[in-house]
Amino acid sequence: MFDDINVLISEEELTDRIKEVAEQINKDYAGKEIHLICILKGGVYFMTELSKYITVPVTLDFMKISSYGSGTKSSGIVKIDMDLSEPIEGEDVLVTEDIIDSGRTLSYLMEVLETRKPKSLRLCTMLDKPERRVVDVKVDYTCFNIPDKFIVGYGLDYDQNYRNLPFIGVPKQFDN
Ligand code: IMP
Ligand code: MG
Repeated sequence: MFDDINVLISEEELTDRIKEVAEQINKDYAGKEIHLICILKGGVYFMTELSKYITVPVTLDFMKISSYGSGTKSSGIVKIDMDLSEPIEGEDVLVTEDIIDSGRTLSYLMEVLETRKPKSLRLCTMLDKPERRVVDVKVDYTCFNIPDKFIVGYGLDYDQNYRNLPFIGVPKQFDN
């Protein structure tokens, strides 16, 4: 069906690992409530999957930020396109993101959220490309570290396409 994509992480590997991370989160947040923040659009598949296996009480909110243009490289410009619908003061906030690449987007976002006085603020990412880091970001939970390749699927896009792939893959044109 997706002949132009090489699979990097299968759907089964993804869900197995997401369940493991959710179990860790359940232990770390025992007795608390989690206010999950999804970073749109890329984080939506990951956040919904992760939240299904979280057994402590959860509330959800969404924020849209942009850092990428239409290409495959970060512009370094971060903009809030859509803000949260509720204040986070006093909440145990867990941000869920699709991927940390240069780190620019999340380092900026975590600083913005910290000023809103959450009780705690942590970051959970589905994927991390540590080799590409330009700006330091503290990541509390990572499902997979991946090599420096441009990937799509499970929320991640190439020019808005491929977000709905149920796996993480590398478009063949970028796989060399
Ligand atoms: P950063 O600011 O460079 O860390 O970029 C983070 C954002 O860039 C992610 O939330 C993604 O939206 C996007 N991004 C980074 N790497 C990839 C990739 O390999 N494929 C698709 N989008 C990516
Ligand atoms: Mg993103």
